[in-house]
Amino acid sequence: MTRRPYIVGNWKMHGTRAMLSEARAIDRAAQRHMKVEVALAPPYTLIHPVHREAEQIAVGAQDCHDQDGGAHTGDISAAMIADAGAKFVILGHSERRQGHSESDALVRAKAQAALAVGLRIIMCCGESAEMRESGQAVAFVKRQLEASLPPADLMPADVAERLTVAYEPIWAIGTGTAATTDDIAEMHGVIRALLVELFGEEQGAEVRILYGGSVKPDNAAEIFAVPEVGGALVGGASLTVDSFMGIALAASEPFES
Ligand code: PGA
Repeated sequence: MTRRPYIVGNWKMHGTRAMLSEARAIDRAAQRHMKVEVALAPPYTLIHPVHREAEQIAVGAQDCHDQDGGAHTGDISAAMIADAGAKFVILGHSERRQGHSESDALVRAKAQAALAVGLRIIMCCGESAEMRESGQAVAFVKRQLEASLPPADLMPADVAERLTVAYEPIWAIGTGTAATTDDIAEMHGVIRALLVELFGEEQGAEVRILYGGSVKPDNAAEIFAVPEVGGALVGGASLTVDSFMGIALAASEPFES
């Protein structure tokens, strides 16, 4: 990892104001691990409260709408989450692609909306178990990622600052079984090559590629040792300060030894 490792907690649909003390504890702990960039994506309702508490960590959202505003009952725009204090947004998570039928084209439109208001984006991609079993994982992820990212001419010049990619095989999310380091190495290598092809050597080589799917304190170190892994997108293990910062510590150790 050449850039600071990036460890992002995705709280999904977990967390009421009672969880603010956990967010505060994560923020305070992050101040002791400055070689790692720690961030948290709580539910919409906690973005502003966490933002107000946080001194170190960036706060983000787990989704946004592709339109600036209008008659979209129940939806939240990129400008609204930015106004609430979000600095980034996770887009194209498989739980949204599956649970809300989000297409690659819609995810791309959301990415453009988020970038337009100055947010950073974490673009998720990942194959299903069936895709992997049938040997189509690499082709699928390449196609999905390219179709979900805005084309290069619509990306800001500082692509590597604004874009992070998260590889999250669907079969590894929330199952307790992470992908093997060989599988992660292969897919991250493929994603790196695609990013360089799309955005050029200078920017494409610097975009951080996170791994997500059952990352825990006890498997984090081996995952972070894989080439082209720039950090992790963490679901279940981000809900408590102990497990989340255990992962952050695994990311900081090679630099502190
Ligand atoms: P998990 O979720 O860490 O609970 O597997 C990861 C994610 O969906 O971002």
